[in-house]
Amino acid sequence: MRIDIISVLPELMESSFNASILKRAMDKGLAEVHFHQLRAYGLGKYRQIDDEPYGGGAGMVMMIEPLDHCISELKSQRNYDEIIYLTPDGETLNQKIANTLSIKDNLIFICGHYKGIDQRVRDLHVTREISIGDYVLTGGELAACVLADAVIRLLPGVLNDEQSALTDSFQDDLLSPPIYTRPEEYKGLRVPSILLSGHSAKIEDWRHEEALRITREKRPDLLD
Ligand code: ADE
Repeated sequence: MRIDIISVLPELMESSFNASILKRAMDKGLAEVHFHQLRAYGLGKYRQIDDEPYGGGAGMVMMIEPLDHCISELKSQRNYDEIIYLTPDGETLNQKIANTLSIKDNLIFICGHYKGIDQRVRDLHVTREISIGDYVLTGGELAACVLADAVIRLLPGVLNDEQSALTDSFQDDLLSPPIYTRPEEYKGLRVPSILLSGHSAKIEDWRHEEALRITREKRPDLLD
């Protein structure tokens, strides 16, 4: 998978891809992430990328030309499955969306700033708009990192234990059951005996029941 991220602040994202599992995914050649500094496509001597909104109002709007030039250049090099604009008014990211995107080959993420991007960029290029939650960030960069992380970890070969992505919370619309490791007892707190029984069918049943119980308690909406 290749992800091209268009941003005025790529440095905000670099460390996210330079550590741990995402770095390993890149080192293994399973994912490529390319940053594109939007300023390089800015207009005039000052590489302008934003301007005042027509009709007045507070805040600046990211102009169409720099974004169109950058996106068109990328599109001339390969076919993109989705061109995603990270925005608080997009569909809210969930595991299903991450799963769907994880089987794509080429994605573009557009990170907005200020009041957002000129509507015509959305009309012309954007195929999907994604929010990471009902709150407003200062820009789309952190949202792009969240989305890239959720997607890249699902690529075959990225996680050591292939099973572990399949048993994540949300993967079957249930939250994860409680997990424990050594010691068996700590300050009087014991690991549930079923987990020490070695009886794998019973352990699976227990885990499923616990997943249902926890989902009912914390996120009953997932069971609807
Ligand atoms: N940009 C600013 N806020 C955002 C959010 N909640 N999700 C995605 N992109 C954003």
